[in-house]
Amino acid sequence: MISRNILRKGAATLAAATMAFTLAACGGGSSDASSAGDDVTTVGFVAVGPEGDWRNANEQNIKDTFTTDAGFDLKYAPAKDLDQASQIEAFDSFVDEGVDVILLSATEATGWQDSLTRAQEAEIPVILLDRGIEPDDNSLYVTRIAPDNAAVSKSVAEWAVSAFPTGANYFVLEGPAGVSVVNERNKGWDSVMSSQPSFVKVGAQTANWSAEEAKSVTETVLKANNNNIQLIFAQNDEMGLGAAQAVQEAGLTPGTDVKIATIDGTKGALEALAAGQLSFVAEYNPLFGETALDVVQKTLAGESVPSYIQVESTTFDSPEAAKAALPDRKY
Ligand code: AHR
Repeated sequence: MISRNILRKGAATLAAATMAFTLAACGGGSSDASSAGDDVTTVGFVAVGPEGDWRNANEQNIKDTFTTDAGFDLKYAPAKDLDQASQIEAFDSFVDEGVDVILLSATEATGWQDSLTRAQEAEIPVILLDRGIEPDDNSLYVTRIAPDNAAVSKSVAEWAVSAFPTGANYFVLEGPAGVSVVNERNKGWDSVMSSQPSFVKVGAQTANWSAEEAKSVTETVLKANNNNIQLIFAQNDEMGLGAAQAVQEAGLTPGTDVKIATIDGTKGALEALAAGQLSFVAEYNPLFGETALDVVQKTLAGESVPSYIQVESTTFDSPEAAKAALPDRKY
């Protein structure tokens, strides 16, 4: 049953977007949607905030998409120090304020049931960006827009099997505990490695998406294993770059003595792949603002959308592939 609130808002959103487009196209008057009166769609964006290059690209893309010219009032609420309590506070205040729609990138996978239920009771649709919730109950949100973390991570494992025909001792640098994408990436990696007895998992530890922390963890792991590590799977680019520094400072050569594979596909990682510091980079495409806008417009117009919308991503497996891609990279 589509609520009257959503249907009313949907017609207004469409009117505002049309008005803004018409004004802009005619070159007359302001292209600012506010000139269309109060038909501005308010969007509460419960965001992660500063976390690294991937996050910066993702959140900037949302801001660049949900503009006033496009008929939106985007209320950006980044977490305070990645703290979930600050996100829940912002989420609940958006519900109290009666925004038209909430975008949520959750710092933690669990603990969202009450807030999502409150939004549902207030007939405010919630769209998950990137991060999922656990347990996953898609009656509590409209859709989740993200690349497929398990598939992205599986592509890294499949590359590793091809790069090491006789296996390898490996270590996994994970993102923070309790984050949905970390669990999904472990699942994808393990779905391949569980049937590869020649690949020996020396260990796994979080480095909290941080290059500095990953460098320190890798230094310790190399020392503890007498440098007998041939492969490092870093669940994001920054941690892979930190690991490469530690490998070098241990007197080893990244790409030769130790191959490092990462997820994200940021410019820094592709430059490192081009230079041989990294050996494989799986993109986790952050630029899905247009998809999110389409979902918001459809939802407010009362149209249904799939409960999961997969964002396409690619992989880079050589310096040549990285060099070819770099000129056109947008993040
Ligand atoms: O949720 C996506 C992850 O969060 C990215 O892989 C990482 O770089 C970011 O911090």
